[in-house]
Amino acid sequence: MPQHDVLIIGAGLAGQRAALAAAEGGASVGIMSKVHPVRSHSNAAQGGINAALNPEDTWESHAFDTVKGSDYLGDQDAIEVMCREAPQQILDLEHLGVTFHRNEEGRLGTRAFGGASAARTYYVADITGQAILHVLYEQLMKHSEVRRYEEWFVTSLMRDENGRISGAVARNIRDGRVELFVAKAVILASGGNGQIYNPTTNALICTGDGIAMAYRAGATLMDMEMVQYHPTTLAGNGLLITEGARGEGAHLYNAKGERFMEKYAPNKMELASRDVVSRAEQTEINEGRGFPDGTVALDITVVPRKRIHEALREIVMVGRDFAGVDITREPIRVKPGNHYTMGGVKTDIDGQTDIPGLYAAGECACVSVHGGNRLGANSLLDTLVFGRRAGAHAAEITAQLPMPKPDRSWVEAEERKIREIVSRERSGRRGAEIKAELGKTMDKYAAVFRDEEGLQTALETVRRLKEEAKTVATDDKGTVFNQDVLAALELGFMLDNAECVVVGALERKESRGAQFRTDYPERNDEEWLKHINLNLSEDGTPEISYSDVTITQWQPEERRY
Ligand code: FUM
Repeated sequence: MPQHDVLIIGAGLAGQRAALAAAEGGASVGIMSKVHPVRSHSNAAQGGINAALNPEDTWESHAFDTVKGSDYLGDQDAIEVMCREAPQQILDLEHLGVTFHRNEEGRLGTRAFGGASAARTYYVADITGQAILHVLYEQLMKHSEVRRYEEWFVTSLMRDENGRISGAVARNIRDGRVELFVAKAVILASGGNGQIYNPTTNALICTGDGIAMAYRAGATLMDMEMVQYHPTTLAGNGLLITEGARGEGAHLYNAKGERFMEKYAPNKMELASRDVVSRAEQTEINEGRGFPDGTVALDITVVPRKRIHEALREIVMVGRDFAGVDITREPIRVKPGNHYTMGGVKTDIDGQTDIPGLYAAGECACVSVHGGNRLGANSLLDTLVFGRRAGAHAAEITAQLPMPKPDRSWVEAEERKIREIVSRERSGRRGAEIKAELGKTMDKYAAVFRDEEGLQTALETVRRLKEEAKTVATDDKGTVFNQDVLAALELGFMLDNAECVVVGALERKESRGAQFRTDYPERNDEEWLKHINLNLSEDGTPEISYSDVTITQWQPEERRY
């Protein structure tokens, strides 16, 4: 039976960074992922990573931009930590071998990104996440004290008799074996829940597993209503066209040929924060100035061709292969699309949740540095800063603790659950059909614009789907790479996530960041400058409570871009 001081669930950037920090802190580490680590969704992060590294820039300026971007819902103590630690992260990555772009002088070069008052985004063309992920994976392989469990699917968190997390139960995807992993601490680094929306920029693996498992184990979820829509995604399939394109100078036009951002953000134009740009696009589309397919045009041809091929080569291929468009010669149609989970498992600045022994970092966590709206290129930074802090903290704490006692009853419970799923005969819809209805419902009612009636419809739908999901049968009854069983488990996780998003969105009766309520169109600091927390109640629904937003030096004011 595997035993580790620190068990990390998820092997994207947050997980890998946590693993390295925990190993460096002297802990024995297990890192587990349902995919091969370099297939984690961090791979998809295109545009870059923010840091005030340039001598003319300051961490305070980066922090203020982040606070303003968050629409003042971000916790400023956490934002300060992230922005102070950012420059060292870039230097560390560079020394490890990340091939960041260099300018003509041979120095690390930056590009502009949305909502930032300085060009402080460091990048590797438009494959920044992929470049960092591979370098960290090399480092992981170097550490013999880090044991990798690749293609293991975690089904639940184990707790001891005092309620402390004492490990996890996981199924080996290759042969169906269910195993107990004993650990003194568990760090969730399992990513966001984008798959509850359709379309989304998120990979198929982003099903909110860690968020749901923490919630089921009693942890508090925070700011779940805050869901980011990225302004430039392809209609239909949701593929990401990096914000780096606008950072390089691309313009947005409506179908009348108007550069409409002039009306909405006259100073920052296309580089206003994402919530502002997405709302502007959706307003143009809703008021009949978009194209008939519900899109606007992103014109990248204003960027010199040589530069596009050097700095935006991934989206040259995405445009060609998925939209049949040569972005160096003609505009590409885009629309706002689901992109990022700003809420998640509530943690402190060391990644500790409110359950002893349970940590969270990266997109599944809510520290909260993004508040109501994340700035582009702050997500990679979040994964590295808070992944490192969680790993280091967990290593230090677990050094003093005895190894928990294994409790096989947790494995037996999960085996029973899986046997029950596999034994079901088909009596209703397939899981994939339920998932599709969920995604469309969320994209219709819990998107850029929301209102009470739509959110109530979404809640009724999600609760109906939760009931239906209990009867989903699998075609595959076997044990080897049985993706059907995993999909059934993921569907349960997604529905818990979706219920929390909708309950939070219904509760927040104001407009702030990504939550725009057409029935409450103003930000209301007096009543709603607070986090919404959700806990699983006895009756299986989310119970609501509130916590204060931490303000250190930036008092809320009106946002203008
Ligand atoms: O547009 C992008 O490249 C996405 C970056 C991010 O979400 O941080």
